[in-house]
Amino acid sequence: MHLERTSAIALHQQIAAHMRNGILRGIFPAGTQFLGSREIARELGCSRTVVLTAWELLYAEGYLESTPRGGVTVASVNQTQAGAGLAIPTSIDQVLAAPDAGHMSRRWQSLLAFEYDTNWKSEFSPGAPDISSFPFKEWARLLRQTWQNPKNVECLDLPAAGHSALRQEIANFLGSVRGLVCTPNEVVVTSGTSSALDLISRMILDPGDEVWVEEPGFVEARWALTAAGAKLVPIPVDDKGLCVSEGIRRAPNARLIVVTPSHQYPLGVSMGLERRLELLDWANKNNVWIVEDDYNSEFRHQDSMIASLRSLDREQRVIYLGTFSKIIMPSLRLGYVVAPERFVDAFTKGRARIDVHSSGIGQLALAEFMREGHLLRHLRRMRKVYAIRQKALMDAITALMPDDLSVSPAATGLHLVAFFTERLKARMSDEEAARALKRAGIHVQPLSQNYLEQATRQGLVFGYGRLNAEDAARLIAKIAGCLGCQPGR
Ligand SMILES: Cc1ncc(COP(=O)(O)O)c(C=O)c1O
Repeated sequence: MHLERTSAIALHQQIAAHMRNGILRGIFPAGTQFLGSREIARELGCSRTVVLTAWELLYAEGYLESTPRGGVTVASVNQTQAGAGLAIPTSIDQVLAAPDAGHMSRRWQSLLAFEYDTNWKSEFSPGAPDISSFPFKEWARLLRQTWQNPKNVECLDLPAAGHSALRQEIANFLGSVRGLVCTPNEVVVTSGTSSALDLISRMILDPGDEVWVEEPGFVEARWALTAAGAKLVPIPVDDKGLCVSEGIRRAPNARLIVVTPSHQYPLGVSMGLERRLELLDWANKNNVWIVEDDYNSEFRHQDSMIASLRSLDREQRVIYLGTFSKIIMPSLRLGYVVAPERFVDAFTKGRARIDVHSSGIGQLALAEFMREGHLLRHLRRMRKVYAIRQKALMDAITALMPDDLSVSPAATGLHLVAFFTERLKARMSDEEAARALKRAGIHVQPLSQNYLEQATRQGLVFGYGRLNAEDAARLIAKIAGCLGCQPGR
């Protein structure tokens, strides 16, 4: 078993994934007895707690069971299926059809072994927007209109940086909605934030380069960085955002910093001005690049808008990322980078070398959609819808689980974190809670899934983009029942 210490995947998850894989492939048949946790920890060079946490996960999923003498053995497949509530193969064909990660690079083996449930269909998915109010009629009209008599450029010769009309509209949009001043020449169209992070990581980093990532943080960003061979250094986040001084202490030679300063993912805090200036100052003095993932800022009202890090940047340090995944829908796969001039040409050329450019199908229609004002209207409508949904969720949690979950309003966006109180923490971990809820058909992300190291806080990440306000109380009551939480009990 090989552990990737610089990977985006926590060590206990890596151990669990290796063991799970071995069990499903029959390498460890039912009844196999494992060494003691101390011996395994010594062999792998990790702490015993890491091994015990991996075992706990596999016990809960039904892969392991304990022997009367306190040992650990592999459970039989039938028991596994009964206890797991997970997508476990039910036939040998399914086992054989599982991706054979063995032929992949070590980095990709560890990425593929990681089980991560994005649960887009859940009412509580943290990233999913509401699509029922999207003006599909206008969108379909514009798609038809823009493709009725397309020009050569749209069919044969789309620039790698994106359609010029869309780059112009993105620059206008950022000026009016985000107060961010940029020219269309500084905009590069991408296939969303994930693709932007992939491009930037590949182009800026050499394998082994250190990168500060927020702890807890955005898991998809870690994947792109890991795939590029980066060494991830988790930097804690407190109520003022990323702890810059801690970053300097832990990784003074970092090459890149990835942050969500306006609405930290997942905690939702915004980075104070002093920290922002400290971060920019240190990055400038040490020639470190900063990636600002500004997801969800568009949902803020003008009166609570926080200036982006990029607008404080006087020395072209910040590479700004935006996406249409939340304000329109993720399947559109369109987003953008606003880059310092010195990077624009390189990113454009780099994009052309990797996969030419983002799909042109939606680019011109989106430019028209923005030019005609539909996007701004949709955004204004959705701000109100999401505010109502957030309030319904907060009210339900406060009324029905006051002694077990603690919530405060999120300033923007589509999710909030409900932290475990000491009372709930004493009874279960957030991963145990999420597993119990999953068995009851409710998918909520455990906060600890977003940590690279041992989670320091426990909680549940509730998305409310797709949550009908009328359903909030019923669903939270079901969650309270499932977790055995009753007020005052
Ligand atoms: C922190 C953060 N940034 C960006 C995104 C959007 O990613 P993409 O544009 O690749 O869909 C998400 C989506 O969940 C997110 O949580």
